[in-house]
Amino acid sequence: CGMRVPLIAANWKMNKTIPEAVVLAQDICNNLDRFDTSDFELVVFAPALDIKPVKTVFEFEKMPIELGAQNFYYEQSGAFTGEISPAMIQSAGCSWALVGHSERRELFGETNDIVHRKVLAALEHQLNVMLCVGESAYVRDSHEELSFVEQQLKAAFAQVDASCACHCAVAYEPLWAIGTGVSAPPESAERMGAHIRSVLLDIFGMKDGEQPRILYGGSVTPGSVANLMNMPHIDGVLVGKASLEARSFVPLVQAAV
Ligand code: G3P
Repeated sequence: CGMRVPLIAANWKMNKTIPEAVVLAQDICNNLDRFDTSDFELVVFAPALDIKPVKTVFEFEKMPIELGAQNFYYEQSGAFTGEISPAMIQSAGCSWALVGHSERRELFGETNDIVHRKVLAALEHQLNVMLCVGESAYVRDSHEELSFVEQQLKAAFAQVDASCACHCAVAYEPLWAIGTGVSAPPESAERMGAHIRSVLLDIFGMKDGEQPRILYGGSVTPGSVANLMNMPHIDGVLVGKASLEARSFVPLVQAAV
């Protein structure tokens, strides 16, 4: 908690078998200079099965890259066949949990209520939360994106104690930019970034509301990252496709910091 250190996060989505994930992790370590986490933070949201092996590579290489889970269930334990709990992902080496990604909302029916429960469960287990928000093209074209994202934020962070704000980050991922190859114009990321900050100040109060980092996600590339990161209300990026190979991810990190 304190200064908002730039944060670069990779979301590997449903890619990479364990051997492939280990190769990618090793490739990143071989090509990225050691860095200090007070300069910037790097998080990889890996598929659940890849978390432990990838963590082992980063530890062996003494690379301070953190691990995050892409998904988990909000209950502690019990008869929930097929699910993994916050304690399980934490024990596998995660310090972060991704919550509310648009693919989970759209394809797996995650409502604002489920997202809210997951936020509370993750924080309870000392996991940092990366909350994804963002509007569809339809909502944008109806000029309702600001209130739409505001609702997502207020639902997700309801009952979250302001002292937890520094363990939360918000990734603005407009659905119309994800996986298209074209990131949102930096000015529109900035406009939403400023709005998200004002909502966070409203939710957590003047001091704690400054704590969460605000990221942009959606077709971020080595070419687009610098202009996005230069925006005053953008503290980092959440990267999908360009994080799947070291030859695009490492230049992206270098261009970002
Ligand atoms: O979570 C990151 C993501 O949804 C963006 O994916 O492939 O457009 O960078 P991509």
